[in-house]
Amino acid sequence: MANEIKKIGVLTSGGDAPGMNAAIRAVVRTAIYNGVQAVGVMRGYNGLINGDVIPMDLRSVSGIIHRGGTMLYTARCQEFKTLEGQKKAADFCRSTGIDALVVIGGDGSFRGCKDMAAQGIPCVGIPGTIDNDIACSDYTIGYDTAMNTAVEMIDKLRDTTQSHDRCSVVEVMGRNAGYLALNTGIACGAVVTVIPEVPCDIDRDIVTAMQETRSTGKKHFIIIVAEGVGRAHDFAEIIEKKTGIESRATVLGHVQRGGSPSLRDRVAASRMGYHAVQLLLAGQYNRVVAEKGQDIVNYDITEALTMNKVMDPELVKIAQVISI
Ligand code: ADP
Ligand code: F6P
Repeated sequence: MANEIKKIGVLTSGGDAPGMNAAIRAVVRTAIYNGVQAVGVMRGYNGLINGDVIPMDLRSVSGIIHRGGTMLYTARCQEFKTLEGQKKAADFCRSTGIDALVVIGGDGSFRGCKDMAAQGIPCVGIPGTIDNDIACSDYTIGYDTAMNTAVEMIDKLRDTTQSHDRCSVVEVMGRNAGYLALNTGIACGAVVTVIPEVPCDIDRDIVTAMQETRSTGKKHFIIIVAEGVGRAHDFAEIIEKKTGIESRATVLGHVQRGGSPSLRDRVAASRMGYHAVQLLLAGQYNRVVAEKGQDIVNYDITEALTMNKVMDPELVKIAQVISI
C-alpha cells in the first residue's frame, strides 16, 4: 500500500484560517521526507477543475509558518458541487499523476473530499476554520488565533465603552457555532454572550441581566453576539430602547480571519499536516484528522460528517455565573 502514493496534492478550501500555511508546510515537508512528490492546488477545488497547480519543494514552503492567510489561496467553488465538476477534478488528478489529496478546510470541504473519494481519488481532510465547528475534532486550525484577535479588539473597545458608560454589542464570527463567541465572552468579561446553541430571550437574558448588574454598580456593558444569532446593530437598538443605556454596535468581521497564527495554531497545523500524510502513506484513505485531548486521531470521513458537536454546558454556565 505504502508505495502506491507517489504524488500528493494539497489544497485549502472554504474560509481561510490562520495556520493553514503551517499545515501546507507540514504536508509538503512530510511528503518529501518520505520520498513523495507534493503539488499545491490553487484556490480550493477550482485548481483541480482549471488545472491550476504548482510544484512544491522544501523551499517553496519556507517563510510561511508565521503568515496568516493561505499561500495556495482559497475559494468556494460552486462547479465542484456538481458531479460533472467532480469528474473533471478527478480526471485532472489522474492525468497529472496526483494520487491523493490533502484538503484543509471545514465540513463543506470535507463533503468535497468524500465526493473525490467516490471518484477514486484518496483524500484526507484537515480541520481548518476559525469556527471550531468540526464535530469530530476538539480543535480546528485558526480558532486560537481568531479568539486572541477578538479578545485584543474587545479589550480596546472596553476602554471607550467604559469611558462613556455605554453598552457595546460586539458581533463575532461563527456562522452556526458559538465557540468563538463563548470563549471570547468569558475572556473579555462580557455580561451576556448570545450563541446559536442556547436560545436567548432578549428581555430575560439581556435586559434583565443588564438591569441586575447595573443595580450592583456596573455602568458599562460588553455584550457579545455570535453572527449566527443576528446582527449586532439590531441588538444594540433594542437594548438602548429597553434599558435607556446608550449602546453601540461593533462588527469585528474578517479581521478575525487574519494575522500571524498563534503557537497553538502553528503546532496543531504542523501535527495535523504530518499525520495526514502518514495516513495516506499507510493506505488509510478517506479520513479526517482530528484532535482529541492531547492526541491527534482520525475518523472515517463519512462518519466524521455525521457526528455532532455539543457545546459544553459547563462553559455556558461559567459564562453566566461569573459575568455579573
Ligand atoms: P467550509 O469547508 O469552510 O465548510 P464551504 O461550505 O464553503 O466551506 O465549502 C467549501 C467548498 O467545498 C465549496 O465551495 C465546494 O467547492 C466544496 N463543497 C462544499 N459542499 C460540498 C458538497 N456537498 N459536495 C461537494 N463539494 C462541496
Ligand atoms: O467559516 C468561517 C467564517 O469566517 C464564518 O465564521 C463566517 O460566517 C464565514 O466564514 C464568512 O464567510 P465569507 O468569507 O464568505 O464572508
